[in-house]
Amino acid sequence: MKYETLHGLTLPKIGFGTAQLGGLPNFPKRAKSDFYLAALRSAFEIGYTHFDTAERYVRGFAEELIGRSIRENNIPREKLFITSKVLPTPWSYSRVMQACEGSLRRLGTEYLDLYLVHYPNPLASMKETFRALNQLVREGKVRNIGVSNFNLKQLQNAQRLSDAPILTNQIGYNIFFRYYSRGVLEYCQQNNVLLTAYMPVKINSKGIRTNSVIQSIAQAHGATPFQIALAWLVAQPRVVTIPMSFNPQHQKENLEAADIELTQHEMDRLNKLA
Ligand SMILES: NC(=O)c1ccc[n+]([C@@H]2O[C@H](COP(=O)([O-])OP(=O)(O)OC[C@H]3O[C@@H](n4cnc5c(N)ncnc54)[C@H](OP(=O)(O)O)[C@@H]3O)[C@@H](O)[C@H]2O)c1
Repeated sequence: MKYETLHGLTLPKIGFGTAQLGGLPNFPKRAKSDFYLAALRSAFEIGYTHFDTAERYVRGFAEELIGRSIRENNIPREKLFITSKVLPTPWSYSRVMQACEGSLRRLGTEYLDLYLVHYPNPLASMKETFRALNQLVREGKVRNIGVSNFNLKQLQNAQRLSDAPILTNQIGYNIFFRYYSRGVLEYCQQNNVLLTAYMPVKINSKGIRTNSVIQSIAQAHGATPFQIALAWLVAQPRVVTIPMSFNPQHQKENLEAADIELTQHEMDRLNKLA
């Protein structure tokens, strides 16, 4: 595994996404709980420690399943790094405080390792949102603050409003999709902010599977094309990623992708793909 170390903490470069853990975005499939709990159990067994979730995922059911799984598998809380996210709304201060209590309750934990503002919302006051986040850090309920889907200007504004360093900006970034990362990646690398890449394989997954450059590099490493797409991400300084998979074989392949050492020549070829 490769790691990122910054602001006094060390984080594995590959974590576990949970956007559809428990069903479709607005449709919890409680009857299928055993399937999702088995997927979480295998993720723990394979060695994932960073779990990315949100109050929004499957209407809070993803958080509920993670909490249940931690209890059922007796995972010591301090072994995990749990990220959750709040949806900013116009009643920003009280809404953030209540949302955090909800996430803590569903996850069955006393603190979040990282709490992100899920989206910039023009109707929400970022000043009030961050007043609440700063308070949550003071109360020990949140250990680190970050943002998601913020452009460069919004990220810099968040840095001004946050008492603690902004640990990450979580954005859509993959080998064929680099639009949101333009300018943001360089800024993150120069200013000690992690770029957490979401949808690392979902966007243009067919392209990842069939591209001849990716295929030839995969062959050279005895890896799958998806592993090369992940290895390309985590070879970049300050980039971490959170692929989601409920298939134990894919979960293992995704985690092991961090051990693939791409040569500079291979990185140059992959860099040219988008
Ligand atoms: N902040 C935001 O606004 C935001 C937005 C989107 C996502 N996210 C976060 O980022 C995480 C990842 O994004 P995502 O879930 O949308 O997309 P993703 O991780 O790129 O793709 C997930 C899909 O890819 C498949 N897959 C994963 N690894 C594979 C492998 N090695 N081989 C073959 N198929 C594989 C999975 O199917 P199997 O289960 O069959 O493996 C699943 O259908 C989310 O779960 C969420 O935590 C955040």
